[in-house]
Amino acid sequence: AAGTGTTNKIVLVGFMGTGKSTVSRLLAERLGWQRIDSDEEIERRSGKKISELFAEGGEDYFRDVETTTLQALMTLEQPAVIATGGGAVLRETNRTCMLDNAFVVALKADEAHIIARVGNDPSRPLLQGDAAANVRRLLDARRTAYDFATLSVDTTGLSPEDVCSAIIEQW
Ligand code: S3P
Repeated sequence: AAGTGTTNKIVLVGFMGTGKSTVSRLLAERLGWQRIDSDEEIERRSGKKISELFAEGGEDYFRDVETTTLQALMTLEQPAVIATGGGAVLRETNRTCMLDNAFVVALKADEAHIIARVGNDPSRPLLQGDAAANVRRLLDARRTAYDFATLSVDTTGLSPEDVCSAIIEQW
């Protein structure tokens, strides 16, 4: 959907560590909307941690649960800011569903910031082992994955408050 305040949903997409969680919290506060995190919603619905879903069924299984969850979130009636997992954009069906129902905002950050933010987080299965090397590999594989968004915000040098303001101005 093309901005100008016409949708009652704002979806944040972006690579791991680009600030989706923090920005979604602030944005929801400023708009007086509810805030939903798709990964938390996946964990709530499945009763399992993201890392357990990956361990038990592999990435494809996790992506299936993610797709089902995203589709449910996109049809909620209430206004909501929805933070998604970094790979939620990989399936075309998800991209279409998001664009059809929400103002989709991609957060961008440079590699060094991402590596500093994600550290060695054990809750992110795709980064286990050499986190920095995995970030580099995935960033490369996903070079254009977030380009479908209606708005892209380069967060370099911006505070989370600044990022929120940029989104609200363009929405
Ligand atoms: C993933 C990102 C994670 C989570 C899962 C897979 C990805 O979410 O959905 O570990 O493929 O980029 P965050 O972007 O919130 O870390």
